Amino acid sequence: MQVTICGGGNAAHVLAGLLGARQDLQVNVYTPLNDEAQRWQQGIQAGGGITLTSHEGILVGQPYRVSADPAAVIPGSKVVILALPAFAHELILRDIVPYLGEQAWLGALPARGGFDWSVEHILMARNTSMVIFGLQTLPWACRIQQYGREVAILGTKAQVDLAAWPSSYAGEVAALLADLMDVYVCPIANFLSLTLANTGQLIHPGVMYGLFQDWHGQLYTEAPLFYQGVNATTADILQQLSGEVQALRRILERYHPDLDLSAVRPLDEWLRRSYAEDILDASSLQSSFSTNRSYAGLRAPMRPLGDGWVPDFQARYLAEDVPYGLIVIRGIAELADLPTPMMDRVIAWAQMRLGKEYLVGGKLNGGSLATSRAPQRYGIRTLDGVVRRA
Ligand code: NAI
Repeated sequence: MQVTICGGGNAAHVLAGLLGARQDLQVNVYTPLNDEAQRWQQGIQAGGGITLTSHEGILVGQPYRVSADPAAVIPGSKVVILALPAFAHELILRDIVPYLGEQAWLGALPARGGFDWSVEHILMARNTSMVIFGLQTLPWACRIQQYGREVAILGTKAQVDLAAWPSSYAGEVAALLADLMDVYVCPIANFLSLTLANTGQLIHPGVMYGLFQDWHGQLYTEAPLFYQGVNATTADILQQLSGEVQALRRILERYHPDLDLSAVRPLDEWLRRSYAEDILDASSLQSSFSTNRSYAGLRAPMRPLGDGWVPDFQARYLAEDVPYGLIVIRGIAELADLPTPMMDRVIAWAQMRLGKEYLVGGKLNGGSLATSRAPQRYGIRTLDGVVRRA
């Protein structure tokens, strides 16, 4: 079976190592950004493959072909996996769509919010029997050690949810991905659950806001710890964000009793389910972050300036998780007439830091909406429209 991984970052390296080690797969990598394909080829040649290190040991995988040309790697692929930040999804989708087979399974790890709407929008003109899938999160915390050569898995989630469209394929796709990734993959009812249950959209902007809301230009001598830096105030921000998502879930369930949103879990429950024994003290939301071994040592995104460091507000914790996460659920909340005071506070701060405009006068009608995945961007203007596509 031919599997093509799209992306050239941490997640793509893990998949290339893991799948490339199997004899029954032909694994390609599509990575068009800058000179990444060339750097992969050089790294693989020098290191004899992609070395994957984890608590389980060491594995070396050899991709069959790495290319910046979609025509060289996409045709013939049974499974195509986008393993890169959501801000690159649309660009990559537009590149690969002409080469995808009618029976291909196309998905994203993780989907983030509104992935299905984005695919539908791009495939609009095409009558296809493709299967679309998405994972609720990336199964691993992982970091490249040497580009094109070595990647480390720092932690693996106990289980990850998967949605598919048509939804009747969820079980079959989940079984295949569980086998490929050696992770427990749990099929869930619909893509709307993935959009609402995308916890990165709460955790990343919420913690950035908690850490840097009062930042006024001072230099740091080192990057603050990100997850271990969650104090009582930040935990309260995250709790309120999670509460607003649960309120939205309840409205949608009342509105449409047949809609299964059971996979949209409160944040503390999701943490316990995903990280299980990695959390040493799960007695509070704050301690679930600060004592989580998978999060240990991970630091806030910073960039060097002069003799020190300043927050990097263009990093994916805002640049991905706001337009392809928080704005998507804020858009659904607006259609449900649900007030979301904490989301609005975090978005107002984040859009200022990103130099974007989503929320204006308490409504999602800023000029930057066109590059987000809010339902309004796809012409979805009622809750009926949201639920009909679920
Ligand atoms: P990354 O930051 O390593 O990905 C960067 C790569 O994305 C680039 O090297 C390039 O190949 C691709 N890319 C970026 N912009 C592009 C563009 N304009 N055109 C084409 N390609 C472009 O991301 P990573 O770590 O692999 O994460 C992938 C996804 O998994 C993201 O959604 C991330 O939020 C999520 N995630 C990652 C975790 C981790 O530990 N790495 C943990 C949990 C979630």
